[in-house]
Amino acid sequence: KRLILIGPPGSGKGTQSPIIKDEYCLCHLATGDMLRAAVAARTPLGTKAKEAMDKGELVSDDLVVGIIDEALKKPSCQKGFILDGFPRTVVQAQKLDEMLKNRGTKVDKVLNFAIDDAILEERITGRWIHPASGRSYHTKFAPPKVPGVDDATGEPLIQRKDDTAAVLKSRLEAFHKQTEPVIDYYAKKGVVANLPAEKPPKEVTVEVQKVLS
Ligand code: AP5
Ligand code: ZN
Repeated sequence: KRLILIGPPGSGKGTQSPIIKDEYCLCHLATGDMLRAAVAARTPLGTKAKEAMDKGELVSDDLVVGIIDEALKKPSCQKGFILDGFPRTVVQAQKLDEMLKNRGTKVDKVLNFAIDDAILEERITGRWIHPASGRSYHTKFAPPKVPGVDDATGEPLIQRKDDTAAVLKSRLEAFHKQTEPVIDYYAKKGVVANLPAEKPPKEVTVEVQKVLS
């Protein structure tokens, strides 16, 4: 399947992705994870993206479209994919349509993680991630077995630099202004499924499975 996950910061996209990936054997492309890896490695791409990311603003369409165009060439992504955090502007959605058209394919489903803004601050400020895998935990809602340590690798967990209440405000603003129109864009194509993203993680997984089965 060719899937897009759209939702505000903290809505659970990254939490549900590995489960969807395992079950449907897809490739998981998260532009946020890829950009953070580029920032950590101090690549030219990372240098260009860092300032916008730290402020909670979107990086330029050209940068992220380039990353996705490149990543979609991977052999593991030929039979299907999950795009997590992309497209986030209508321009990105149009470019993606073009890319897929050139490859003779299209988007099957857009999962819209619908949730009230008020819930998101607690989710974001309590999040801890394992940078190498992108796995995320939450001090209250999804604690690791050992505090501060990744369950699978035993490596330390970190907090994202943009996971503060102040930066969350800008990220939410960007979501409402620039990304909500993308949901309308796909709704017109009849491919959007709305998920009750405020439910506990396992219940959201069940809803995802209903949509995809
Ligand atoms: P990105 O990394 O995509 O961040 P985001 O969209 O803000 O989304 P998050 O990763 O914060 O949320 P999530 O939905 O994955 O939440 P999670 O599952 O971890 O982007 C970062 C930045 O990169 C952007 O600001 C921008 O600068 C740049 N960027 C990226 N893509 C771009 C693009 N296409 N164009 C331009 N710029 C781009 O869950 C959050 C927490 O809640 C976790 O702790 C989790 O354990 C917990 N949780 C999850 N689900 C539940 C639940 N159901 N109940 C209780 N707790 C839960
Ligand atoms: Zn995420």
